[in-house]
Amino acid sequence: MSRRQFLARSLSAVLASLFARGVFAQHAGHSMPDMPDMDDMPGMSGTQHAEPSVKKTSPVTLASPDALPKGAPLADLRKLPNESRERGFFRATLIAEPVSREVLPGLPTTFWQYNPANGDTTHGPFTGPLIDVREGDTVEIRFVNRLPQPSTIHWHGLPVPPDQDGNPANMVAPGATHVYRFTLPAGSAGTYWYHPHPHMMSAEQVFRGLAGPIIVRAADDPLAGWPERTLFFSDLRLASDGSIPPNDLMDWMNGREGQFVLVNGALRPRITVVEDERWRLWNACSARYLRFSLGDKQRFAQVGTDGGLLEKPRDGLTELLLAPGERAEVIVRAGDAPSEATLTAEVYDRRKMAMSHGSLPPDPARALAAVNYQPLAGASERAIPATLRTIMSLGAPVARKSVVFSESMDMAAMHRPGASARGMPAGMKFMINGATFDPERVTLTSRRNEVELWSIENRTDMDHPFHLHGTQFQVIERERGGAKIPEPYLAWRDTVNVQPDEIVRIATVQNTAGERMFHCHILEHEDLGMMGTLKVI
Ligand code: C2O
Ligand code: CU
Ligand code: CU
Repeated sequence: MSRRQFLARSLSAVLASLFARGVFAQHAGHSMPDMPDMDDMPGMSGTQHAEPSVKKTSPVTLASPDALPKGAPLADLRKLPNESRERGFFRATLIAEPVSREVLPGLPTTFWQYNPANGDTTHGPFTGPLIDVREGDTVEIRFVNRLPQPSTIHWHGLPVPPDQDGNPANMVAPGATHVYRFTLPAGSAGTYWYHPHPHMMSAEQVFRGLAGPIIVRAADDPLAGWPERTLFFSDLRLASDGSIPPNDLMDWMNGREGQFVLVNGALRPRITVVEDERWRLWNACSARYLRFSLGDKQRFAQVGTDGGLLEKPRDGLTELLLAPGERAEVIVRAGDAPSEATLTAEVYDRRKMAMSHGSLPPDPARALAAVNYQPLAGASERAIPATLRTIMSLGAPVARKSVVFSESMDMAAMHRPGASARGMPAGMKFMINGATFDPERVTLTSRRNEVELWSIENRTDMDHPFHLHGTQFQVIERERGGAKIPEPYLAWRDTVNVQPDEIVRIATVQNTAGERMFHCHILEHEDLGMMGTLKVI
């Protein structure tokens, strides 16, 4: 076999298999006609093996999955202090900055953290502080960017004005300060989060640690008296030297998953439940799906989604899937006798693509936290109100929109020398309506206050969580193989998973003119351009 053939073969084996069921499958096993001569490419001459411009596997040695201390009592999240004394006003500072912390003994890790002004930055969870606010509050956050990169803060799920929502167009330069200001309308109570949104840098900024929770509370919350627990799930990859390694080709393709899933910044914490509790769950992982369970015997009730309470509790659940970006509220009961359970991420097959043909096997189940039930003597089960609130259907749509997810691989682009910007493989495309994100292009246009029916169709080989900014939507139905499955209950969401060959239909309305983003919430896909601009007029 000639060297050229060998190169072409090993490359086609890698690349064709990336999208084995796509247009490149036909290249497998024979040489590619349009390949540039590999000898012309820097770093390619005289070696026995060929590599795409982004390495297919990471040379990084990872820290052991047991390297972090585990089993400590679940830490509360840090709270962002309100610098204002004024009623109805929440004013605070968030500084995004590199902070060196020793999470592996003797091996400092540089995280990128959101910190309050004058806060203790090296103790407690590195997760961004909790912004705990009320409906009607005016929120003013001074963002100080001490990162080596431009950034923004996006208020995921909140109905903030478009120019306050941290769009990629509104970058805050390194060293600069920007004040975000918005008022939380009535009905906005729910479980939200904030994270950076610069184009092509969101994935890195989040995997280095930038993300934090937001709770908006209602004055008439029927569950206000319940003990509440916040569980903010994030994903972390650490190299054995304590560094946070960059993304490799597989990360860009499937989204990054680290060897650690953390709860409020800690590995497998211990939760002691002495009475019935309300839990808020955030899936703030870049790409990991979390199919929660507490085991077969420990049933729980879902009482809320991204945008707040459901109308009626969904009781008797044994599992709940949260795609990246999604949140939920659940009721966990203490029971009537001491017992133990493991909060587990059960196996979920999101059909990650493999380097060889087909898909990767799903990840095995993973323990997230140990739960210890120690019911207080004499405590009896607390009744969940039968009606939590009223959710009105958005009503008949007056316009329709279509969003189609697709994928493709352009091998010539992938092999152009220097083709990988920021370590991102050029040519690996995840698209919306046939194109990757272009800041100059409006993908869709909507009219203010018009209810629209959006159909979101996934023509790729893997799951993608669809997310729309600036509003909460209602899932109407899911269509699979021609069968339409109406959504069984009304709920407010801003993120919804779409499986391969599935069409999800949502009702949605935007109330403010300006530009809104919509995208896949696997952050690597978002950075690769699986994002569009909705212009609201
Ligand atoms: Cu969680 Cu566009 O974002
Ligand atoms: Cu968002
Ligand atoms: Cu995606």
